[in-house]
Amino acid sequence: MRADIVTIFPEYLAPLDLSLIGKARSAGLLDVAVHDLRDWTHDVHRTVDDTPYGGGPGMVMRPEPWGEALDAVFPPGAHLVVPSPAGALFTQRTAHELAAESHLVFACGRYEGIDQRVLDEAAARGRVSEISLGDYVLFGGEVAVLVIMEAVTRLLPGVLGNADSLVDESHADGLLETPVYTKPAVWRGREVPDVLRSGDHGRIARWRRAAALTRTAQRRPDLLAALDPAKLSKHDVTT
Ligand code: ADE
Repeated sequence: MRADIVTIFPEYLAPLDLSLIGKARSAGLLDVAVHDLRDWTHDVHRTVDDTPYGGGPGMVMRPEPWGEALDAVFPPGAHLVVPSPAGALFTQRTAHELAAESHLVFACGRYEGIDQRVLDEAAARGRVSEISLGDYVLFGGEVAVLVIMEAVTRLLPGVLGNADSLVDESHADGLLETPVYTKPAVWRGREVPDVLRSGDHGRIARWRRAAALTRTAQRRPDLLAALDPAKLSKHDVTT
């Protein structure tokens, strides 16, 4: 996968060099380029913002540098992602959809956002998704890009050593994942549930299913309500 990220703070994206994303890049599974929006300005102050038409607080990102930037890095066939608190909610489903793309372009807005005409023009010549991480407001899109890139990169073929870790994780089947334990069997007087040490794989699977249902019912009843009834079995119980 190729990812181009346009921002006025390229240093903000430095974590993309680290850890498993960095490894995926070294392994040639992911090709990332970070671009400074100010490289597409032409005035001595490298201006990227101006006051909003209609008045109001804050500044809006000017269309000219964004237009030139997208002319350079958003070719036909790519998918433009614009992080915004006004976007559609980012979920594991969105991560899977984006992981199936061959070229993502991210436009990081700052201040009150990017002039709407930039997004309208981009949508007239390619796919554009405005995506929100949640119902809160960040300073800008950079941290959202880090989150989206991490969720997407771990889904790329060959990135996770053990693809099974994608099967049981939270949200894979619409439920939260179960509590996990490792050695020692007793720690500060707290025991690992007996069933997990029983070696009885059928019992363990039933316990995990019940624990996932219980946790989801307690913490995210909205997920349980949205679950496809076909994904529930008449044998399902909670712990
Ligand atoms: N930019 C500012 N707030 C954001 C949010 N909640 N999600 C994505 N991008 C944002």
